[in-house]
Amino acid sequence: MSLGLAVVGIAPTPSMFAPASTPAFAIRELSFLVLAIVTGIFVVVAGLTVYAIIRYRRRPGDDGREPPQVYGSTQIELAWTVVPFLIVIVLFLTTARYIFAIERHPAPPDALEVTVVGNQWWWEIRYPGLGIVTANELHVPVSDAARPTPTFITLESADVIHSFWIPQLAGKMDVIPGQRNRTWVEPRTPGTYVGQCAEFCGVQHAGMLLTVTVHSPDDFARWVAAQQAVAADVPAVRAGRDMFTSVACISCHTVRGTPANGVFGPDLTHLMSRATLGAGVAANTPENLRAWVNDPAALKPGALMPAMKLSNDQLDTLVAYLATLR
Ligand code: CUA
Repeated sequence: MSLGLAVVGIAPTPSMFAPASTPAFAIRELSFLVLAIVTGIFVVVAGLTVYAIIRYRRRPGDDGREPPQVYGSTQIELAWTVVPFLIVIVLFLTTARYIFAIERHPAPPDALEVTVVGNQWWWEIRYPGLGIVTANELHVPVSDAARPTPTFITLESADVIHSFWIPQLAGKMDVIPGQRNRTWVEPRTPGTYVGQCAEFCGVQHAGMLLTVTVHSPDDFARWVAAQQAVAADVPAVRAGRDMFTSVACISCHTVRGTPANGVFGPDLTHLMSRATLGAGVAANTPENLRAWVNDPAALKPGALMPAMKLSNDQLDTLVAYLATLR
């Protein structure tokens, strides 16, 4: 199964060594320090091993007897106890310092507040201060060093433990039922960053992707205004709208501006503004949307949305309506 993110042109292999946000820069800094220390240890240990192998190898004329053995040396024992202990202390203290600096970073007044809810197997994204609900594609403003506008994220779970991870923007944070965890990102470069559920959460754990789109302030304001609008009532597709609100769709999905106000599945008010379907498993094209409504499991085996058992005509009518949810 090819992932939808690749289809829509987003590199599916993010690297924590290409950071684009404040916590991620700090995490790379710490990683390099740890890497430098352990590389030093490797070079010393491997170097001494290679030296001993070459220096004390069997040579022609060896008499086959063991060389003189050394029993007990306080100096050597002290050295191999104290030096590793000091190294562990340094690693522990620097790591603790970075963790506390990231976790205790205060939210400035201009911070954007977002709530992300992990579901099997998709992400609900709410902007409580803006009245927006969307799914799988988090949109945030870029942060200017002179006037920081980081995004603070409250993480909740609707079912099992998930883990929220966008390697280029911040470290992993578990998403735990009955608990609210907090994380934050402060992206400095506009662009699209790929994330992934990082805690095994069931059959479609791997199909629980998310993207973060970082906008310039103007673009972000435009996105907010578009998302705040209720769904347009297009007369040409009213038959599809009536079908949507008369079949099972409305028990799980919301479309603002219609009677549909279900909450188990993603909010579809601006479905067509999203690049992918099924949390990143397929590009959001009319063909894929039709295939998804017909039988979600065909694109995402195990998806909790049932096959709708609609006729071809009914599918066409319904998808024509969904395609107007921009
Ligand atoms: Cu959600 Cu893995």
